Amino acid sequence: MLNIKKRLIFVSPFVLRKFTTMKENRGSFSGKLGVVAVAAGSAVGLGNIWRFPYIAGENGGGAFLIVYLIFVFLIGVPVMLSEFAIGRKAGCNAYGTFKRLSPKGGWWLVGLMGIIAAVMIFSFYGTVAGWTLEYVKKSICNDFAGQDVAALAQTFGDFTSQPVMPTVWMIIFVALTALVILFGVEKGIEKVSKVLMPILLVLIIAICVRAVTLPNASKGLEFLFKPDWSSLTFKGVLMALGQAAFSLSIGMGTMITYGSYIKKDTPLASTAIEIATCDTVVALLGAIMVFPTLAFLGAESAGGPGLVFITLPAIFQAMPGGYIFAILFFLLLSVAALTSTISLLEVPVAFLVDEFKMSRKKATLLSSSVIIFLGVFCTLSFGLLSDFTIFGKTIFDLFDYTTANIMLTFGALLIVIYVGWFFGRKKFIEELTAGGKGNVKLAKFISILVKFVAPVGIGLVAIGSLVIGGIV
Ligand code: TRP
Repeated sequence: MLNIKKRLIFVSPFVLRKFTTMKENRGSFSGKLGVVAVAAGSAVGLGNIWRFPYIAGENGGGAFLIVYLIFVFLIGVPVMLSEFAIGRKAGCNAYGTFKRLSPKGGWWLVGLMGIIAAVMIFSFYGTVAGWTLEYVKKSICNDFAGQDVAALAQTFGDFTSQPVMPTVWMIIFVALTALVILFGVEKGIEKVSKVLMPILLVLIIAICVRAVTLPNASKGLEFLFKPDWSSLTFKGVLMALGQAAFSLSIGMGTMITYGSYIKKDTPLASTAIEIATCDTVVALLGAIMVFPTLAFLGAESAGGPGLVFITLPAIFQAMPGGYIFAILFFLLLSVAALTSTISLLEVPVAFLVDEFKMSRKKATLLSSSVIIFLGVFCTLSFGLLSDFTIFGKTIFDLFDYTTANIMLTFGALLIVIYVGWFFGRKKFIEELTAGGKGNVKLAKFISILVKFVAPVGIGLVAIGSLVIGGIV
């Protein structure tokens, strides 16, 4: 009790909120390592392992990858830093940050859009997180033994098109996240995940080693690393930007909240670069697991949300100890998803508690009920509701596409415009360098990225996809 700061070192920022209400008394991360660990927990999730490979596969592989990397570092990092800077300055959640810094402007709408985005993202994310739980079960039952790629695809299709079990798993996953938040055991979860996530990384690296040594692997690596520019469309460029925002958890204010818990003397710039690097390495490894395996299997199509659920069980069969690998991998992937969904659920919960003075319990129950309600439609999009489409997309696809490519992209655009043009350059640089201690040159360079490069870049991609087509 005496040393509250020490006790709070690795606690989720959302737990810190409960201990401290006044800005002056706000708890903080112990320093850089604390921020990197917690923000990376939100960033690294199904976005890296499930979404990145299939989106990259559908958009041409190598060329998509290059555009993605450019977006992560030239746009994603500046957006993340903008969020950190205003969050730390205001010491508040996303909605409140805008209200506090600019009470008169309509900027709080950015915060509100973020809250809606969080609910929508969790709704379809929960479906996929539910699949990972089923795949833990299937791995334990050794269901994949002897299945070739066609059989694995059949297994995936058969399972996801059922009405009951995928829905049950989704509800279990949302309930699990709600329980973690209700009982305030994020602290425990984070301690656990700090042990488990490095193990997941080791597993992923081991799977990558097997993947690149499979017969025909070079074909898959070529697809991933040899850019074929003719395969990249404008829509692909928009998807690369959306994927960068999704994977880094930016564009909706999660990182604003994290920023409010960063100590004043922590240099922001290098912190964001480290988080982005971490996230990108995991996404790259995710793709290195998938594409050589796909080439080995001789499968032509490289797309669809089922990609990792079809390729990975195949590679586990080609690995010594594959049975154990499969169980551990899907289990740890669920934990990675959980640390991401915790950060998603906290967004509406914190909003309801702060703005409507709701109890935490009520806010958690209400938010998770809405998420489960929407989640049922997303889950059924693979079966009962597969023919129900809006703009040619199932509800799942619509939520996935709209949040990443429109809401996060638009949110990111507004955030950099706000910081670049309204927040004040001097204040921004002061935040980035922690009052002049950090690398001033780097901070100045980033302020240019925030003011010009990022808004123009995001704007061009958005306008381009509107004009040339492909936005819906
Ligand atoms: N980034 C997470 C992933 O890649 C998903 C996620 C968590 C997220 N929080 C977010 C995405 C906030 C956008 C915004 O799995």
